Amino acid sequence: MNALHTFKTINYTKLTNSGTFTFAAPSNIALVKYWGKKQNQIPANPSLSFTLKNCKTITKLQYQPKAEKNISFDLLFEGQVKESFRPKIQKYFERIQDLCPYILDYHFKIDTQNTFPHSSGIASSASGMAALSATIIALEKLVNPNQTEAFYLQKASLLARLGSGSACRSIKGNIVVWGETDSIENSSDLFGVTFPYEVNNIFNNYQDTILLVDKGEKQVSSTVGHDLMHNHPFAERRFKQAHENIQQLKDILKTGNLTEFIALVESEALTLHAMMMTSKPYFILMKPNTLEIINEIWKFRESTKIPVCFTLDAGANVHVLYPEKYKISVTEFITNTLAKHCQNNQFIHDEMGNGAENVS
Ligand code: DP6
Repeated sequence: MNALHTFKTINYTKLTNSGTFTFAAPSNIALVKYWGKKQNQIPANPSLSFTLKNCKTITKLQYQPKAEKNISFDLLFEGQVKESFRPKIQKYFERIQDLCPYILDYHFKIDTQNTFPHSSGIASSASGMAALSATIIALEKLVNPNQTEAFYLQKASLLARLGSGSACRSIKGNIVVWGETDSIENSSDLFGVTFPYEVNNIFNNYQDTILLVDKGEKQVSSTVGHDLMHNHPFAERRFKQAHENIQQLKDILKTGNLTEFIALVESEALTLHAMMMTSKPYFILMKPNTLEIINEIWKFRESTKIPVCFTLDAGANVHVLYPEKYKISVTEFITNTLAKHCQNNQFIHDEMGNGAENVS
């Protein structure tokens, strides 16, 4: 089932009526980071993430049968024409057309909206590409209804990956592994799989409060970022470390040892940034307030013994992670101590969620 060709739709019908699907898909936060990729969106190392719930993209796909076979679509963001998204979506359709040849039979109208504030520095590519892929698979179910639900879910993740790597981890909940690695059975470079082992109750509904430190445009696009890992002096060791960290995290998720969890998660975040600081060209994506927040988190953890930790994406925003049972005291800490380091005191509460859903 792992080979790419098994995902190619060969027999399909052409619908004669137009129709609409609407899907919502959440963002996700990686604990073990994907950083570096090969041809065709194949990751250089495995990654593991918590699927989120509140930060999501809602995408409405209207399809209309047409005579000629080509890629054809209109793009709207919150109901307004949005041409700046076109190149990314065009590339996505080009990448998936071989696996989903039926898309050439329709003109699409795609309208998306995010639940999180525009230009909050929260990447919408993961939720956006996951939501769009979920709608494409909904169409596939109509034109080729003979596959299993498991197949459709895998293919949705695979298509999302072709749009943006981390998006393949947003189709399902609530802990997802992407990238083949020995310690996770059935893990694949082609799509994300739900973490298939026992998880300690302490991780139920794990909380992620996103502190908006810098809402500006990304300094380094993910494409440029991943490229930095080519010829990077520490790349090979880093890729190996990701495998080791997933193996270790597998045990931690089972035992619920939060001391070990924190050490691994924070180290992963800092390693991601260390890779950027040691590449050519080099980048510092943390801001002074990122460091202020990290130090405050360490002080708070030391004095209260509450197991709160941070992780980072390729930017200055900080994700604060903690078990649900500490929600009240951590929220108080965030409001009183951390919010002042955020742009306009802004932060967004999120928590583990279940992935893409049909909201048609
Ligand atoms: C730092 O998934 O945005 O967030 O495949 O080029 O679209 P592309 O990259 P993208 O990279 C995300 C990198 C990260 C870590 C992670 O989410 O694993």
